[in-house]
Amino acid sequence: MKTPIVVMASGSGTNFEAIADAVRSGRLDAEILAVMSDRPDSAVLEKAARRGIRGLSIPFEKAANIEDARSLHDERILSAVLPLGPRFLVMAGYMRIVSRRLIEAFRSENGYARIVNIHPSLLPAFPGIGGYSQAFRYGAKVAGVSVHLVEEEVDVGPICGQESFSIAGCRSESEVEELGKKIEHRLYPEVLSWVLPEKFEVTKNRRRLCVRPH
Ligand code: GRF
Repeated sequence: MKTPIVVMASGSGTNFEAIADAVRSGRLDAEILAVMSDRPDSAVLEKAARRGIRGLSIPFEKAANIEDARSLHDERILSAVLPLGPRFLVMAGYMRIVSRRLIEAFRSENGYARIVNIHPSLLPAFPGIGGYSQAFRYGAKVAGVSVHLVEEEVDVGPICGQESFSIAGCRSESEVEELGKKIEHRLYPEVLSWVLPEKFEVTKNRRRLCVRPH
């Protein structure tokens, strides 16, 4: 059965394209109900429109404090997205921290939230913004890509898939990014193909959930 998903993205949307290509070719059994972006002018919305996929532009608005602004934004996202009936949210370069309310709206009876993200580092190394740049500037010789389920604390949810690559020969941050993006575009659809139908087992190690494919 096709898993209905909503993609959340803020930027260029190359991961969205990789996912949409995998859906189109039948490698990924999913239906993209919509692409939601917090940036009305983002390339990802144009790319969605070109493919005939519904775009939802929900700009982030300031409030008295960042938590209130985040909650208000996520409420607006939920009002737009829930009526479409997605089973999973798939973050593909969504550059905002989400609130507990959004995560809980997608919490499964098995304890994890049905929200997936791709992060440009071998977590738990280099969380936060600019994973590839962080690895290069640190002088690391190996970088990586992680696909994980989302929790309230940023970049610490259960890891589903990871891949490392050597950056020993890279001379710039953009060289690292170029290598990393190629891996992302293959790895994300691959991992989604067993995460979306929830073909995995979840174990608990202290308070941490661990995910392994069946
Ligand atoms: C990717 O590097 C992804 O790992 C990170 O944001 C970037 C999004 O790129 N979360 P794109 O918009 O998919 O091209």
